[in-house]
Amino acid sequence: MADSAAVAGSGRPSRAGVAEDPVRVWRGLAGSHVLLDGFHALKHALRFDARIPVALTADKPAVLALAEDLAPDVTAALDVLLAETDEVTLRALVPRLHPTAVAALAVRPSRAANLGVLERAPRSAPVVVLDDPRNLGNAGAVIRLAAGFGATGVVTTGTLDPWHPTVVRGGAGLHFATAVERVDVPELPAGPLFALDAEGEDIRGLEIPDDAVLAFGSERSGLSAGLRARADHLVSLPMRPQVSSYNLATSVGMTLFHWSSGRPDRLTARQPEA
Ligand SMILES: C[S@@+](CC[C@H](N)C(=O)[O-])C[C@H]1O[C@@H](n2cnc3c(N)ncnc32)[C@H](O)[C@@H]1O
Repeated sequence: MADSAAVAGSGRPSRAGVAEDPVRVWRGLAGSHVLLDGFHALKHALRFDARIPVALTADKPAVLALAEDLAPDVTAALDVLLAETDEVTLRALVPRLHPTAVAALAVRPSRAANLGVLERAPRSAPVVVLDDPRNLGNAGAVIRLAAGFGATGVVTTGTLDPWHPTVVRGGAGLHFATAVERVDVPELPAGPLFALDAEGEDIRGLEIPDDAVLAFGSERSGLSAGLRARADHLVSLPMRPQVSSYNLATSVGMTLFHWSSGRPDRLTARQPEA
């Protein structure tokens, strides 16, 4: 289905030689595919090899001009992929349309594929665990951080779907740059478990190994009892007295930075494009 839809999204004829209507393709896939909302989400998804059966805009020349300006590496792929429709139709399909007025649908990577990546050994970068996170925006921000630092993946426990459209929006399409899955605590990937908690041992005296599993608690209640019981190390981020805690995503950022700072060879400080 994805192959023939990919042809339809590009506006080219299908295998049967009949051009499929991209709006019809969208309607058929919307319930089962990941919404990429806006230029940046689509750009990142393309860069990290997401399968994108259909992409729509009301102004293709404007999107291609934006690509030329911000991300010329994806202009050619967008030119092939983007189909034009009128703005009323587009807004009916995507009610909270991003200001860049472009949207696409991508295939969600399979759970089996993600679990395979998360379990692969030896691991060259940590896995981030969000233990029962509640805030969709925080989860998206964490996925963006994990992608930026080249983490192996982000797993969540609890009921939040890490592929929820609001999380994907917050992650700027970078779900495709790391392995994102929901698991239960007993199924966490193998590796030394460093659980972040304000009462733990100061992170500045610790080296975080590449195969670490880095766990962060829920915004409201911190680490669950189940996760604490599994932890090999309880680790704190420096914080002045009278401040209760840091924001969840900020804590992940500091911890990944601490891991990466011992490995200047791994990541360059600047990527070619912000
Ligand atoms: C907003 S905090 C949770 C606050 C919560 N009221 C509690 O009791 O822990 C979310 C998560 O960020 C991490 N975190 C926040 N501040 C931290 C600190 N100073 N040291 C270590 N981890 C911290 C922890 O993993 C925490 O569970």
